Amino acid sequence: MKIHEIQEEILRLKQERNFCILAHSYQTSDITEIADFTGDSYALSVKAKETKQQNVLMCGVRFMAETVKILSPEKHVFLSSPDAGCPMAEQMDCDLIRQVKMKYLNYTVVAYINTTAALKTICDVCVTSSSAVRIVSQLSNEKILFIPDCNLGAYVQKQLPNKKIKFLQGGCPVHAAITVKDVAQAKAAHPNALLLVHPECRPAVCDTADYVGSTSGILQYAMQSKAKEYLIGTEISIAQTLQNACPEKRFYPLSKNLICQNMKATSLMDVYHCLRDGEGAEIQLDHATIAKARLCIDRMIALRG
Ligand code: 13P
Ligand code: SF4
Repeated sequence: MKIHEIQEEILRLKQERNFCILAHSYQTSDITEIADFTGDSYALSVKAKETKQQNVLMCGVRFMAETVKILSPEKHVFLSSPDAGCPMAEQMDCDLIRQVKMKYLNYTVVAYINTTAALKTICDVCVTSSSAVRIVSQLSNEKILFIPDCNLGAYVQKQLPNKKIKFLQGGCPVHAAITVKDVAQAKAAHPNALLLVHPECRPAVCDTADYVGSTSGILQYAMQSKAKEYLIGTEISIAQTLQNACPEKRFYPLSKNLICQNMKATSLMDVYHCLRDGEGAEIQLDHATIAKARLCIDRMIALRG
């Protein structure tokens, strides 16, 4: 079958089986074209509560599908590629964080949404990259334990110098691999390009950027700016999406290594087989986990407004 025929079949099956398809903006265009909604992890969390269909298929990574299940426990939530996890979300387990909490007793524990459902149950509030600064700024406690991404934590600390933020050495292996040497090489190759980076990049890399923001922030900034050339410091698909959306501008990935294999684990055929044959993984979480993890995500949505 040709790509457009598979897409048409997916659209038909989606209707017939009462599915809503959600896609993270790191998914390839053949998938975002058939999704009901594409967005960053904050927007996907909000959408999770609004979908009318009984079944939700998440094209992204496991913690995103878990977030949908936590916010819509009555729905059947599927992850199209069962092995697609976010390595950062698996870096810290509950035992480790319980021990760290003992050390930082009066701290508010802020969890990046890139964490497992189990870990969320012992944290106070979630944040996403697009909402972290706004949410942490509204917490009455000045003492914050920020997990697991030390780079995002450092970015928040820089924006909010009045807060006292402790972080552990976790982070995204894809974004944290970018070095200032990569930046220097890319700028030498494209001296007129603006540099837009995700806050999961190291502080030394963020310091060289013209703009630091979430995937949706980078998309918006580049679409609205009058500049002609951009270096994109986040997963490579964002540079591709921008190039398709703005053919009169030029978008270059900051590094050719900016590829998240987990986000790329989902193919259009996975989506097709999930809808046609029931492949993929249904997310199963017990009631207690859902109830506790939900507090953390509901607080995020309430504070983000
Ligand atoms: P966003 O919050 O920008 O969607 O980022 C999610 C993510 O996993 C980035 O690597
Ligand atoms: Fe996780 Fe990094 Fe992939 Fe985002 S890009 S899903 S943080 S590994």
